[in-house]
Amino acid sequence: MKFFIDTAKIEHIQEAKDLGILDGVTTNPSLMAKEGITGRQNIYRHYRKICDLVSGDVSAEVISTDYKGMLKEARALSEIAENIVVKIPMIRDGVRAISTLTGMGIKTNCTLVFSAGQALLAAKAGATYVSPFIGRIDDTSWDGMQLISDIFDIFSLQAFETEILAASIRNGLHIVEAAKVGADVVTCPLDAILSLLKHPLTDSGLQKFLEDHQKAQTDALSRS
Ligand code: G3P
Repeated sequence: MKFFIDTAKIEHIQEAKDLGILDGVTTNPSLMAKEGITGRQNIYRHYRKICDLVSGDVSAEVISTDYKGMLKEARALSEIAENIVVKIPMIRDGVRAISTLTGMGIKTNCTLVFSAGQALLAAKAGATYVSPFIGRIDDTSWDGMQLISDIFDIFSLQAFETEILAASIRNGLHIVEAAKVGADVVTCPLDAILSLLKHPLTDSGLQKFLEDHQKAQTDALSRS
């Protein structure tokens, strides 16, 4: 399973990269706005920075919601760097745009997917990735992980090559569950990735190893 980081914050991308586990980056207009990046030039410059930092796929989302506008933006975004994946919303014109962009050899990530039917349509249009939003489904008291599992079954049975990118991941448990049900990729904030490191028995076990080692050194010294 690939690990993507879901942020536009350069420091967080760098930190995940330094951990040696980073396969790619996803962004969205809210995440760009959160970093205070506004204006087309600045936004494109920021994508360039991210693409210079990470060799894996970097999802950059279109703002247009009409077919022509999405195609125009997609072409401009894909010219920023080779590893740009154009993020397209799951709407009627979006499906059409995904189909056209696939024909042009431009990678796409179909975003805002909340049902198996939407995922099926995106895959049929040739999307490189589909992004089901786990956390936002859980927020509505539905089961986000069940959706990943359903999409996995459909894509396996129908031999679709579209990758399942589990998005709106909020914690380490989401990451583990997504891995168990067959997600190809998880995209998550840095703190969700780092939470995977934590276990109290690791901390107490390491402390005991170091204490025992220290005690053995001290005992050996006092014997000599
Ligand atoms: O990038 C889309 C998605 O990951 C958003 O997550 O936490 O805003 O639902 P969240």
